[in-house]
Amino acid sequence: MGILLAAGMLVGGLIALEEQAGALENGVARTPPMGWNSWNTFGCNINETLIKQMADAIVNSGLRDLDYKYVVVDDCWFDPARDSAGNLRGNPSRFPSGMKALGDYLHAKGLKFGIYQVPVDKTCAQYFGGYPGATGSQGHEVQDAKQFAAWGVDYLKYDWCSPSGTIDDQVRTFAKMRDALAATGRPIVYSINPNSIHAKTGPQRNWGDVANLWRTTEDITNKWNTGQTNGYPMGIQNIVDVTVPLASYAKPGAFNDPDMMEIGRGGMTDTEMRSHFALWAIMASPLIAGNDLRSMDPATTTILKNQNLIAINQDPLGLQARQVSNDGTRRVLAKKLGNGDVAVALFNQGGSTTTISTTASAIGLAGGSFTLRDAWTNAVSTSTGTISAAVPSHGTVVYRVSGGTSSSPTPTPTGRPDGCTATYRLVNDWGTGFQSEVTVSNNGSTAIDGWTVKLTLAGGQTIASLWNGVNTGTSGTITVKNTAYNATVAANGTTTFGFTANGNGSAAPTGVTCATP
Ligand code: GLA
Repeated sequence: MGILLAAGMLVGGLIALEEQAGALENGVARTPPMGWNSWNTFGCNINETLIKQMADAIVNSGLRDLDYKYVVVDDCWFDPARDSAGNLRGNPSRFPSGMKALGDYLHAKGLKFGIYQVPVDKTCAQYFGGYPGATGSQGHEVQDAKQFAAWGVDYLKYDWCSPSGTIDDQVRTFAKMRDALAATGRPIVYSINPNSIHAKTGPQRNWGDVANLWRTTEDITNKWNTGQTNGYPMGIQNIVDVTVPLASYAKPGAFNDPDMMEIGRGGMTDTEMRSHFALWAIMASPLIAGNDLRSMDPATTTILKNQNLIAINQDPLGLQARQVSNDGTRRVLAKKLGNGDVAVALFNQGGSTTTISTTASAIGLAGGSFTLRDAWTNAVSTSTGTISAAVPSHGTVVYRVSGGTSSSPTPTPTGRPDGCTATYRLVNDWGTGFQSEVTVSNNGSTAIDGWTVKLTLAGGQTIASLWNGVNTGTSGTITVKNTAYNATVAANGTTTFGFTANGNGSAAPTGVTCATP
């Protein structure tokens, strides 16, 4: 019996490990999804007429043709009871034509259909008592995934909304729906939120193995700064503070999600609304509008339709801007683009106008002659290297910088191991397994073109899954090399890879060293 029990535990452990170590390769969200979500403006008060009006407004305003495609129906769309076979269905008085008909309507307009659900027993509105029932997907994952696919759903927002569960429980539970969606064969963007009324686990790991999009913070509100670090409700500045350090996680198919936008909902100045959009764009964030699209003022339309910023956001490299500098007031972020240009944001976090400056070399460009296009004014200027602007309080100036030679695609001198250091960090330890992160830093003055990290794991530790790198070996001394998308590390830049391993994480690996190849 003891042996049987031990064997059972082993199998259980292996299954758990497999679920956790699985990968997300669903081919969607190669660039950050763009669209609209019902929650910020309408909360629980939704119905099919409203959603259809919003779809019409996306088309008529020209937003669809700028790639705002996903129309996401948030909480409170469902019948508070499942049918006798346990199937979800639309709320019959709110969505009398049914969810499939709504999907068909959206698809006929060239739009895509998004829907909200939770991995626990109650949706957030049900948890807070604002809506009856307990229709979460817990125990119904495969059935619900099939139902969504049958309705033509293209995007699932899956919201933890419970104080219970460790981060490891969350990884396993979110992975269940990932796999259930994959099994339907329909490409569905998988967008998760591990933070609602829960410990803020969004920024604690790279969720790119589990989901296409993962919320980094508690819910956004239409305010610039609420003083929160990561608690309800979050202002724009607060969300930026959490999300900027997670830049290395972004790649095609996997993006940090700083929440739906508040543009056009009041509560902020025009400068702040513009900054909000510019920062979301350069952080490679999903651009999901949250305002009433039927009644947009010209200022809102101008912001949401800024094609320079949309192009920066939708760049095929899928990189999130890296922080170049931040003195508390002046923050500079730079995003490398597919054609060799670099987008740079000069963000004033202070209370009065100030000049913010950086240089072409600091953002990864070499050479002596550059062209700067201002993303808001379209004005073009030239520079021999200085990039600078007077920026109003809470404003963000964005330049698209062309010219020179990108120090990133061009191989730079190698054999400078002094330029590269690797720092190990234990992220989470659950006794029988742990999760860690290694930051690769380029301390040299030119970009690193390819990196390799060696480390020796303590006895009994075995790698279960590793992301943002390719490993040789799973125990003892292992070697981790860059993957194609994070091979280049700018001067003074960093990249991060992470892994989960079996064993006790209290013993840190030894000999953690980095070399350029
Ligand atoms: C949570 C989410 C929000 C929204 C609501 C719906 O708070 O974070 O984005 O989906 O639930 O109840």
